[in-house]
Amino acid sequence: ITPVLPAILLGYLLGAVPFALVLTRAAGYGDIRRIGSGNIGATNVLRTGNKPLAAAVLLLDAGKGALAYGLALAFAPTAALAAGVAAVVGHLFPVYLKFRGGKGVATFLGLVIAVDWRLGAAACAAWVATALAFRFSSLAALVAVTVTPVAAYLLVGIDPAVALLALALVITWRHKANIQRLAAGTEPRIGAK
Ligand code: G3P
Repeated sequence: ITPVLPAILLGYLLGAVPFALVLTRAAGYGDIRRIGSGNIGATNVLRTGNKPLAAAVLLLDAGKGALAYGLALAFAPTAALAAGVAAVVGHLFPVYLKFRGGKGVATFLGLVIAVDWRLGAAACAAWVATALAFRFSSLAALVAVTVTPVAAYLLVGIDPAVALLALALVITWRHKANIQRLAAGTEPRIGAK
């Protein structure tokens, strides 16, 4: 039996774990889907005002993307990229939540860091620079996911570039409400409640 399918399945199931939902509920804030943008992600968890909780969600969501890639790399190297992509898809469309998931940014960044640390550094630098300049998490995410496939092509190769471009397109589509708010001037800045 080829290890590719189990690796993809494991990556998907790992990526589908909704840490923002689990941790926010455990911390007593209720359902994150009823807070702020309703998104199951670290930026929205920050709207509870609990910074350590948001940081934990960021690390766990990024960690699951990196872990899916790293585990597959160890046991089924040819499936590593597919398993990492599956983790982001899992976050976006989680089986545990009737396929209504988050926006995939942290998990995407975790995957990118695992694929190549230089690529991860470039992607995170794009996010941080945009966030510092404009203070919109969504805009920072859109810039980071746009820059990453190009950087992946230059630094790593065509396969990861194409895989990351596909994810970037889905992630961008997931941000359509944010894009509308950015255009309308109503998108909240990072940390605003
Ligand atoms: O990473 C998600 C971010 O880009 C947008 O989150 O909650 O502001 O829609 P949110």
